Amino acid sequence: MNDLPDRLRELLLDSGYTIDGVRERLGEVAATALAREETVPALRATRDGDPLGTLIRLWWLGAPVEAPGWLPVDGLAAAGLVTVEGGLVTSAVHLQPWETGGYVVSDRKVRPGDPALREDHVVGAGGASANLAQLVSRRPVERALDLGTGCGVQVLHLADRARRIVATDVNPRALELARLSWALSGVDGVDARQGSLFDPVEGERFDLVVSNPPFVISPRGRFAYRESGFEADGFCRDLVRLAPRFLSPGGTCQLLANWLHVDGEDWRDRVGGWLAGTSCDGWVVQRDVQDPAEYVELWLRDAAEQGTPRYRELYDDWLGWFESMGVTGVGFGWISLYDSGSLDPVVRIEELGQRVELPVGDYVDEVLAAIGATHRLTDEELLGARLAVAAGVLEERVGPPGAEDPSRIVLRQTRGLRRTATVGTVEAALAGVCDGDYPLDPLLAAIAELTGEDPDDLRAKAPEGLRPLLAEGFFHISTG
Ligand SMILES: C[S@@+](CC[C@H](N)C(=O)[O-])C[C@H]1O[C@@H](n2cnc3c(N)ncnc32)[C@H](O)[C@@H]1O
Repeated sequence: MNDLPDRLRELLLDSGYTIDGVRERLGEVAATALAREETVPALRATRDGDPLGTLIRLWWLGAPVEAPGWLPVDGLAAAGLVTVEGGLVTSAVHLQPWETGGYVVSDRKVRPGDPALREDHVVGAGGASANLAQLVSRRPVERALDLGTGCGVQVLHLADRARRIVATDVNPRALELARLSWALSGVDGVDARQGSLFDPVEGERFDLVVSNPPFVISPRGRFAYRESGFEADGFCRDLVRLAPRFLSPGGTCQLLANWLHVDGEDWRDRVGGWLAGTSCDGWVVQRDVQDPAEYVELWLRDAAEQGTPRYRELYDDWLGWFESMGVTGVGFGWISLYDSGSLDPVVRIEELGQRVELPVGDYVDEVLAAIGATHRLTDEELLGARLAVAAGVLEERVGPPGAEDPSRIVLRQTRGLRRTATVGTVEAALAGVCDGDYPLDPLLAAIAELTGEDPDDLRAKAPEGLRPLLAEGFFHISTG
């Protein structure tokens, strides 16, 4: 590939083929139409024949363009990036600017009416890729692993904070395109290895493992880009179970996952079972649940199979398979493991439907630390600790107009995970006074004096009310 990536990168940047450049050129209407898989407005917005419009047509929209003199067409064709026929250049891949400032090379997205997906299709960077990138800890690390790298997008996010990166994929074509993504993004030194799950890194350890795995749960692993061929949600389960063996002390593993909701089983028990015995602290968040039909439609649409002759048969087969397992829904969410080294690990499993402050990676280490620390703190240690209410926590009092006392007091986080918690008067009073200066004990004594409660009673029951608030980040322990 010699200097082609450097030349191409320069050309892309000089032409304004960047996230902002494309957004500005397409405008709101064409961009939202594209999100609905409609290309006509975007084609209209790019018909001037200038470099930016031409690049958008070629690389983003997958439309043939007349070979422009300024594009190194022969080199691109030799590298397998375009094909040329009768003076028309057609892109053989999708090449998109990415939010890191780099570029991502993948196969072209299929749209309704396109030929069927190839089995070794390499999926482009999209919503799920961005979700994981937002979730991953920002902590600088020595060694990172991206398992199932696909087009290589997670590596672009890791490049500025991991000194050494290993990227794996079962699909050799994915590694080929990922190498192009990295070269075009000026990221070098990535150790790319082919193989399934952790096979390519047997015996090695990493400070950070990230994975946007082939999590789609289907009767057959038809497409490696999204389905592993493992039974049901077995790939995510095995990834979680095996990950600790590949984590350095203090290491973190973060992944996206899908899990089944099965009749008669609490999904928390199912996913909790994956983490039990990992000896890591864990945090599982369910962000969404879809019913079986919604789920099947989503993924048939993803492979542009709606409207094809096999659509109904595939839909029916998939639904029948779900039914045979008693599946009532599929959960989508995040799993984080943290090798805290504690002999008493803890796993927190919860649903978070609200919009959270992004990127979660900015504060995910604090979330994991709070979960672990709260679990391992004795009541005595808690009563002796100096707590501070977290920045951005607001108090809301709700009650009938004119009432002296509210019927409900809510603490609301305006930052981070934006949780809310209904609290009692003691916790609310503590939220008003905890600024990290005094231990809880004297503060509780003062509250008891004001409210007339028995100080020993208050002291005995305060930890129970405070623990969830500490684990959920309404308070933190002041070390200053
Ligand atoms: C959803 S894509 C993720 C791509 C990219 N990391 C991202 O964030 O967009 C999942 C990737 O996992 C790969 N994969 C499928 N089965 C695998 C396996 N058994 N072991 C490792 N990777 C696998 C697929 O080839 C695909 O590239």
